Amino acid sequence: MRLKGPNARLVSLLYLAVTVSLLAQVGLGVKQEDFKTSEQVAFYRRHRAFADGVAKESRLLGKSASTQQVASPYSVLQDSVYLDGHTLVSSIQHGADKVPLKLSVSFLDKGIVRIRGQEAHPLLPRFDDTQKLVLRDGGANLKYASADSLQLTSETVNGETVHIVSFKDANHTASLRMTERPWTVEYVLNDKPSILLNSKGLFHFEHLREKPGADGEVDGADGAWEETFRSWTDTKPRGPESFGLDISFSGYEHVYGIPEHASSLSLKSTRGGGKEAYSQPYRLYNLDVFEHDLDSPMALYGSIPFMVAHNAESTVGVFWLNAAETWVDITREKSSTLGNLFRLGTSSKEPTVSTHWISESGVMDIFLLPGPSAADMYRQYADLVEQTPLPREFALGYHQCRWNYLDQEDVLTVDDKLQEHAIPYDVIWLDIEHTDGKRYFTWDSGKFPDPVAMQQKLAYNGHQLVTVVDPHIKRDTGYRIWKEANDKGYFVKNKEGNDNFQGWCWPGDSNWVDYLNPEAASWISRQFHLDKYNGSTPNLFVWNDMNEPSVFNGPEISMDKDIKHHGGWEHRDLHNIFGMLYHKATTDGLRTRESPNKRPFVLSRAYFAGSQRYGAVWTGDNAANWEHLRASIPMVLSNNVAGMHFAGADVGGFFGNPTPELMTRWYQLGIWYPFFRAHAHIDTKRREPWVFGEPYLSHIRSAIRERYRLLPYWYTLFREASLTGMPLVRPVWMEFPQETGMFSEDSSFMVGSAIMVIPATDADTSMPIDVRLPTQENWYDIRSHAAYIGPLKRQFATDLATTLVFARGGSIIPTRERHRGSSELMRRDPITLYVYVSQTGTATGRLYLDDGETYNYQNGAFIERELSFENAKLTSRPSVRTASSPAQLEFLKAMSKVRVERIVIVGMRNPLTKAVVVENGQTRTIELSYAGHKLDSECTIRDPAVLVGNDWEVTLS
Ligand code: GLC
Repeated sequence: MRLKGPNARLVSLLYLAVTVSLLAQVGLGVKQEDFKTSEQVAFYRRHRAFADGVAKESRLLGKSASTQQVASPYSVLQDSVYLDGHTLVSSIQHGADKVPLKLSVSFLDKGIVRIRGQEAHPLLPRFDDTQKLVLRDGGANLKYASADSLQLTSETVNGETVHIVSFKDANHTASLRMTERPWTVEYVLNDKPSILLNSKGLFHFEHLREKPGADGEVDGADGAWEETFRSWTDTKPRGPESFGLDISFSGYEHVYGIPEHASSLSLKSTRGGGKEAYSQPYRLYNLDVFEHDLDSPMALYGSIPFMVAHNAESTVGVFWLNAAETWVDITREKSSTLGNLFRLGTSSKEPTVSTHWISESGVMDIFLLPGPSAADMYRQYADLVEQTPLPREFALGYHQCRWNYLDQEDVLTVDDKLQEHAIPYDVIWLDIEHTDGKRYFTWDSGKFPDPVAMQQKLAYNGHQLVTVVDPHIKRDTGYRIWKEANDKGYFVKNKEGNDNFQGWCWPGDSNWVDYLNPEAASWISRQFHLDKYNGSTPNLFVWNDMNEPSVFNGPEISMDKDIKHHGGWEHRDLHNIFGMLYHKATTDGLRTRESPNKRPFVLSRAYFAGSQRYGAVWTGDNAANWEHLRASIPMVLSNNVAGMHFAGADVGGFFGNPTPELMTRWYQLGIWYPFFRAHAHIDTKRREPWVFGEPYLSHIRSAIRERYRLLPYWYTLFREASLTGMPLVRPVWMEFPQETGMFSEDSSFMVGSAIMVIPATDADTSMPIDVRLPTQENWYDIRSHAAYIGPLKRQFATDLATTLVFARGGSIIPTRERHRGSSELMRRDPITLYVYVSQTGTATGRLYLDDGETYNYQNGAFIERELSFENAKLTSRPSVRTASSPAQLEFLKAMSKVRVERIVIVGMRNPLTKAVVVENGQTRTIELSYAGHKLDSECTIRDPAVLVGNDWEVTLS
């Protein structure tokens, strides 16, 4: 590392101290004492005490009543309830404190219900920009149910008033029932009370209040006005402002989502005991956790407060829109729900998952998503936060990263070697050491004398470069970025608001740009433009790291909660969206650096709901061991469940040195992560694929090639996600919603609807693998095409070359089979179609193609084919017929030589001899060939010579 300037010595010492102390811990595991447990968090403690009080009261009440009673002190104020268009308005109040809260329950399109609440007359405004920064169009264009589809009635049940809003749409006959005393809400779907709010009485809202005088009564003594953690004091100038609510999913045993945790896919109970229960709640608070634990509800780098509940009948979701620190407790029970009280539910006991959400500040803002199918629910969620946009196509390829490729020569050698070993790749990455002393947007000119020439050399074979640009800005008057941001007042301020907040990160003393300030955010965006970022070319893309934000000398390795952002807001209000705001600013910068704009690619470590709009994320610093390999599966799946689709884990494991077997297995799994990048800590040995020699190199090469072979399938999946919000990688339950035995399956998963992956994750690579193929359907080994009939449960023998990947009968999978050096070089390659026939002799699939980099697809410049196989006839039709636009014609012209070069029909029973191809009114006949060693049920139509962009059909006989 070279350092310049007057502070060089100090900075170098700081840097060394930080690195040495971090490195010294390698292998020691997480430093638990750096991070808070729920008991060390005052607002959590206060809610816990409240909840314990309510539970006790409820037990007492229960003894004296015949029905279940809830001792919530909150009730609806008399005569405060009315329907205002699509919103049910009411006031609720705690029996003792008499501070009215205004509650609005709004009915949106597709049966989404939104519940917002805060003080009717707040002493101070609460932070409410989260909705603007997270929701589609800032929440301005949400579609509401039409007022005349809603009907409000009020009834008296057991002497208590219940307000019922009934509504109907194509998918739901639903009603929302709100009781007055205590205040509770039930979302009744198809006559079942399904999502219940405050049915446990845990709703508790800490209203803003005057600070008691020095001699006055100490209000909310437990950490309400000041709290310390180790040597840090949180001054809490606004006092307590947290709120909590229980949300129960009646009839459900499994809940999923709320990443990021290194936990199981089906979330574990955190209270009430049970074999696998955690002793801490799940925490949502973006943190840089060095050497994090596995099987833990501890907070990690990202937070998405979106939870999904699934049972054999339906899938529903709850989105808790809040950017402050949030804890979620989970309990499971068989209970008679409030439905009994109001004679709604059945008398039998339903399994219920009860969750208790507690956030430190902000407005209570909750969305209930009624499903009923997963596909319905993801459309509802996408209505709120948008879908994942189509990425740049290269981003789906293989990313070769390490901390650090040392210099220009090293980069070009890795590029050469990958080509020499015939390993396709798309991107090579540069970590923090490429800069001049961790001054991002600069280059260490000794090591990278000509970054432009380097990028051009890479670009020649369709390879891109990614550089890391972290959010901490080295405090150095000679550094243009720091100076401009400082001069313009763009940095986050200290507690007093009178100076820049200062902390340590990689470069030593640093400041952080305040992305909450729109002017500062667009200033940082501009720094990514080609004329500002010296040495960057249109082939350079960006990696945002440390954006939780990571502050080495801050509480829990992050910012103090009471420091000040734009508008005077405290960091606590927006902590969980800070990283996303930086991700957005970076993405905006890359998107607008060329005219016409091109699709950006930015990887981020921190994330929130909405981050899917800005690029990919990865699971942060994992380790090179088998446990981390296994843990990456539920982690990537949980992100997908929560709508953060473009996710991956560091292939190989970041810390430590993987054995060749582990490395091989990790590639064999990593090719199924939506984001596929190998990465390594600076202290590890080199581990590019060729380093391991044979047979590992060959296994790794064939895994990576399998990724490239399936790029058309992946790209089509991204297209689907961009339209429907459906995850790319899916828990088995999502495709087989009634396979109750697989609801907590997290060692196998689906890629789209057509491919099931059962990764080998055991150190003993010859260990047989348990395979469970659900449903009564054909399954085909994706390579050998050996056929299996589901449902099937058995062990498969394995070796290091074997991966267990099955195509689901009834699917058509498009591939590109030629080996090339990068995705760009494959763009005009012909397509092969695999038709995996179902038990009823049918199959369907899709193929989507566009130019992979511009936004012309928005003007129709794409090919999207609906492929279907029935009665021995394969047909290709456009997915939608649109009037042709100039952009579309131009694209079709560019693709006019791209043909289907092979069709492989797998699973046809009758021996067939010929195929009749009809395209553009012309008919051709092709003799079929059978693969000798394979079942006579597989046949290949070689070169049907139909164009991907044309309508055609192929009939077998
Ligand atoms: C963080 C990142 C890691 C990166 C390192 C140096 O630990 O998570 O991926 O290599 O910082 O930038």
